[in-house]
Amino acid sequence: MAELDKTRTEVDVPGDWTYASAPESRDIVRIADSYGYYVGGEWLEPAETYETIAPRDEEPLAAIGQATAEDVGRAVVAAREAFADGWSALPGSERAKYLFRIARILQERSREFAVLESLNGGKPIKESRDVDIPLAAAHFFYYAGWADKLEYAFPNRRPRPVGVAGQIIPWNFPLLMLAWKIAPALACGNTVVLKPAETTPLTALLFCDVLRQAELPAGVVNIVTGDGRTGAAIVEHEDIDKIAFTGSTEVGKAIQRHVAGTGKRLTLELGGKAANIVFDDAALDQAVEGIVNGIYFNQGHVCCAGSRLFVQESIYEPLVAKLERRLTTLRVGDPLDKNTDVGAINSAAQLEKIQELVASGVEEGAEIYQPPCVLPEKGYWFVPTVFTNVAQSYRIAQEEIFGPVLSVLTFRTPEEAVEKANNTPYGLSAGVWTEKGSRILWMAQRLRAGVVWANTFNRFDPGSPFGGYKESGFGREGGRHGLEPYLRFDE
Ligand code: NAI
Ligand code: MG
Repeated sequence: MAELDKTRTEVDVPGDWTYASAPESRDIVRIADSYGYYVGGEWLEPAETYETIAPRDEEPLAAIGQATAEDVGRAVVAAREAFADGWSALPGSERAKYLFRIARILQERSREFAVLESLNGGKPIKESRDVDIPLAAAHFFYYAGWADKLEYAFPNRRPRPVGVAGQIIPWNFPLLMLAWKIAPALACGNTVVLKPAETTPLTALLFCDVLRQAELPAGVVNIVTGDGRTGAAIVEHEDIDKIAFTGSTEVGKAIQRHVAGTGKRLTLELGGKAANIVFDDAALDQAVEGIVNGIYFNQGHVCCAGSRLFVQESIYEPLVAKLERRLTTLRVGDPLDKNTDVGAINSAAQLEKIQELVASGVEEGAEIYQPPCVLPEKGYWFVPTVFTNVAQSYRIAQEEIFGPVLSVLTFRTPEEAVEKANNTPYGLSAGVWTEKGSRILWMAQRLRAGVVWANTFNRFDPGSPFGGYKESGFGREGGRHGLEPYLRFDE
């Protein structure tokens, strides 16, 4: 009994329920001091380098090569030789073995890739760990499955590879965009020269080690690094048969002008200003989660981000109240912390663009809401932001911000929602929230967007084609459609 008497009746209840930090260890990944170009299965020394940094604290990570036109030329020669020396003639089932191998190695080394992706790009580790890396592996698995079935995918059309593909990718999903580009190209028997974005080259360079482990024949995949000048050298190279580009509409237009008349194939996946449309019969709490995922996922650095929220007038006030309350629970901070919801902005340049557009929103008369939030001192950060009282003519309703910034607008009828949603030069994606299945179909038929999500947002699957209308580009990636740009069907 004496023991029992000692039992305390008062328990220490923490007064503060904030999350303790739960950092992922970066020891799992080894970063070299400097990297060259991966050409013909070997590393070429760069003549000129620049520094790649961690956007969370501006820590220098490695010296990266700035490839010249001659470097690109060497990569194209290696790719052409590998194409002619057997890769293009290999039976599809043999090509599939390499792709399956790459997919499995990516899975095995997923933690390493996730840490490196978050470190170099600034995205939360829970996204790189649960979305980017698993989806990248899934793309290789998916296209491995097609490699020996092209004749079934395109019956009686004699599908054959196009040749050497030049692929230029952005910094928002570095490894995933690499997978979207390389997996279908290789499945169809092409060889590749790929350039990652200048701010996020590290996972593409680590991927070269995966290629070595998979014993992919030399020259089938070549990786060159550098900024837009290197990209331009790829676009301008005469011995490239197909260009695949994901990035800004501005550069996409320049590439299209350059490629016109050269006979080069081209697919472009460019910007967006997606409408996320919530009807008054939608499940509001579920919609709020979808809105948050739609615009704050990956700091809003997403071409298909739901950056324009259209709310039916009758539910405007309760929905905005729920949304603003939800924003106060988002954790902004260290990308390597497993509890982080919103990480670092990718670069100083992107942060400046976001700040400029947000200032224009305030100037033009929109009402700004930002939750209380303590930002780290070093690095590039932006507080998740909601604009209400937005007119369609405001820049924040027209231009791609590519940051964690939402513009809220209203509508009364489905017709008005469609008209406002389509009032943009872009057409990449859209979202519809309603209980009515018939209304989802009615809306999906009228929205000029490559992807329309219903009661969800930002869902990706390798089996589902992705791509745009209008200034969002053309061509599809993913699914059977994603094979076509890498095949020719002439006799
Ligand atoms: P960007 O279009 O300049 O860069 C994308 C890729 O293209 C990078 O690898 C870059 O080195 C390369 N590049 C740049 N200039 C080139 C040229 N003349 N020829 C060939 N390749 C070239 O995009 P940036 O400047 O990084 O971002 C600007 C805006 O573009 C963002 O704020 C966002 O609005 C949009 N963007 C859209 C993306 C998407 O997923 N659709 C991805 C990245 C940016
Ligand atoms: Mg640019």
